[in-house]
Amino acid sequence: MARAQISKIAYKTIQQGKSIAGLAHKEISSRIMNFILPDTKLESFNIDKNLLLKIQNSMELLREEDWNDAENNIYPKKLLFDEPWLRYLTQYPKIWLDMPNTWERRRKQNFEDLPKYIDKDNYPQYYLRNFHHQTDGYLSDFSASIYDLQVEILFNGSADAMRRRVIKPIKEGLSVFSERNKSELKILDVATGSGRTLKQLRGAFPKEKIIGTDLSGSYLKEASRYISDLDGDLIELIKCNAEDLPFQDNSLQAISCVYLFHELPRSIRDKVLNEFYRVLEPSGTLVLADSIQISDSPDFIEIMENFHKSFHEPFYCDYIKDDLNTKIEDLGFHNVKSNSFFMTKVWSAVK
Ligand SMILES: C[S@@+](CC[C@H](N)C(=O)[O-])C[C@H]1O[C@@H](n2cnc3c(N)ncnc32)[C@H](O)[C@@H]1O
Repeated sequence: MARAQISKIAYKTIQQGKSIAGLAHKEISSRIMNFILPDTKLESFNIDKNLLLKIQNSMELLREEDWNDAENNIYPKKLLFDEPWLRYLTQYPKIWLDMPNTWERRRKQNFEDLPKYIDKDNYPQYYLRNFHHQTDGYLSDFSASIYDLQVEILFNGSADAMRRRVIKPIKEGLSVFSERNKSELKILDVATGSGRTLKQLRGAFPKEKIIGTDLSGSYLKEASRYISDLDGDLIELIKCNAEDLPFQDNSLQAISCVYLFHELPRSIRDKVLNEFYRVLEPSGTLVLADSIQISDSPDFIEIMENFHKSFHEPFYCDYIKDDLNTKIEDLGFHNVKSNSFFMTKVWSAVK
């Protein structure tokens, strides 16, 4: 009992520390940017006391949820303490060194600053851009090498706690296949990026077959390095477009997809949802996690608006108004549920 209490305090202290570090980084970097390369078009965003309290509360609820799920054996507690500190240490100076490039791109509204060597014919038009003014977009090893920490800073150290919210609905969903051997069950993580969700999934599902897909070869290479020392069977990584998954109809038992939908135009979101429906086996579970939306998080509308203004996210404004629940239901999914945790909304649905 006392041990559990101490672990809980340790977990919360680490989370709070990361949150303070994330906030401090953002404050210092924006002051330096305003001094060196001021962007007159960018309005300053001041969080009032009321909003700050709501943010703190919702972050605290997320931590409680994260702790309780681990306490209830939805996933092992060691995942809560699994922080890649060394990796962060190598990524952090690179972020600082790259920051002036990001500021310059933002100031010049230059969103098509991509590596010359890429073959543009291999990517859809909506993808060929510098999302969040990121150097090289998603299309270089350098971009992949600093992405994780950038997201961690953006979410004040809560990114993995939010990604872990996909685990419980997947676990509940897979229980309908309990008579099957676990190694026959396939979980696909679409747009897996640099592997953070895969690591959480492997922790919770040590025996199931896990596959990660993404359109970026560089991000998949980074994911491969990140997950290479995990216990359990090999996690398969496949480079492909979420619009056209290389899986047969009805062949997967669960799909997760984290932080992809806000970066897709509406018609592509619909197409990807269709594709998820096609490849899932009947009774299989779909779990999406992405930014909160206006309909269920009206208190955070200023944050959503600021995100859209400060980062290059051309499809975000439409995304936050998109009624995905209805779309998922209209496709034929049932048991459609959604819930928000801090800055992330999670949908689950059964085919
Ligand atoms: C914001 S990142 C999210 C990455 C990861 N899921 C995470 O939790 O950090 C978006 C990812 O989606 C990938 N992506 C964007 N459009 C895609 C598409 N049409 N098909 C496959 N992957 C795509 C990008 O390459 C990138 O890795």
